Amino acid sequence: MKVLTVVGARPQFVKAAAVSRELRRDHEELLVHTGQHYDDELSAVFFDELDIPRPDANLGVGSDSHGRQTAAMLSGLEARIEDENPDAVLVYGDTNSTLAAAIAASKMEPPLAHVEAGMRSGSDIPEETNRVLTDHAADLLLAPSPDAMENLADEGISEGVHFTGDVGYDALLWARERADWSVLSDFGVADEEFVLATVHRDTNTDDPTRLEAIVDALADDPRQVVLPAHPRTVARLKEFGLYEAAKRDLTLTDPVGYRQFVALLDAATVVATDSGGVQKESFFLDTPCVTLREETEWVETVESGWNALVGADGAAIRETVTGATKPDEKPMPYGDGNAAKRIMEVLSDVT
Ligand code: UD1
Ligand code: UDP
Repeated sequence: MKVLTVVGARPQFVKAAAVSRELRRDHEELLVHTGQHYDDELSAVFFDELDIPRPDANLGVGSDSHGRQTAAMLSGLEARIEDENPDAVLVYGDTNSTLAAAIAASKMEPPLAHVEAGMRSGSDIPEETNRVLTDHAADLLLAPSPDAMENLADEGISEGVHFTGDVGYDALLWARERADWSVLSDFGVADEEFVLATVHRDTNTDDPTRLEAIVDALADDPRQVVLPAHPRTVARLKEFGLYEAAKRDLTLTDPVGYRQFVALLDAATVVATDSGGVQKESFFLDTPCVTLREETEWVETVESGWNALVGADGAAIRETVTGATKPDEKPMPYGDGNAAKRIMEVLSDVT
């Protein structure tokens, strides 16, 4: 079987690595990078650290408006699928790279398989558009949780739906064994004595009021707050005149590699984030999470008490970050860490 995998952004490299390891045991994979993320710390570092081969092709589309970026990817991906004629096209998550590949593949011969199918937050963000459209174009819908299965059923999608569990859990289990703990001494933090934060959603970074409220609230925490910042966040902090204060009050760093990030996440007392992946990873690692969004697609993390949705409300951020505790129990709706194996079984059956 020959599978053409499309990736483009940081979380997709992490998830594709877990599936690639299984896939390449017995099958051929062509890894196509759209070039949506291109800075070394958002892209190359993951290929270096995650034990996956370099992409077979990089379309080099770079950053642009949603429409232009997606269109450039669509055009490049269509040509690749035509040239390679794979047995399946595999896409991950909800980025513009996911949508572009879905549009291209859905009008061509090979079946389209969507990993992380059925995730819904109910909000009007670009990622929700990408998720919904990709699911409605896909032939194989690989769902990470029972809730995702229900969301698909609610939208009338019943064919090709499979519960696989979450490949992010597979990836995390692999990385936890290989976590780079040296990052703790690099940043001068000790186990369970600091706060970890990430902010990259445009709803937070591009709105000066929200960004300032988040930075101020984090800065007020008496503990050290480590914030590995996405380049967009750094650019907006500078643009809105918030950078100097953030640099003074927080441990503001470049993004770190996945093995370092997993070490930080495991060791932190609490994480404050607007990331989808980080909400889940903190749940897997028993680190309480405060989510800087009004809604989430990973609803089980909130229902079980391990995650609190606070948006960009400064008072709510202060209160929940300070008061975060670990609930006594944790459900495990995201499978058993063998999602990649199940995905391979499904793909092998249909190709
Ligand atoms: C994208 C995804 C988001 C995902 C995130 C993972 C979409 C619509 N968004 O958001 O779902 O959570 O990736 O991290 O697909 N930039 C750089 N260097 C890079 C890449 C981007 O400086 O290597 C800057 C550019 O100014 C760019 C901005 O970051 O305009 C945003 O990048 P983009 O890929 O459009 O969205 P992300 O916020 O990274
Ligand atoms: N991550 C990382 N280094 C960082 C920040 C995040 O390796 O400095 C990893 C994180 O562990 C997770 C993924 O990047 O696997 C999440 O990416 P992001 O938050 O950008 O995207 P989202 O999950 O929100 O789509």
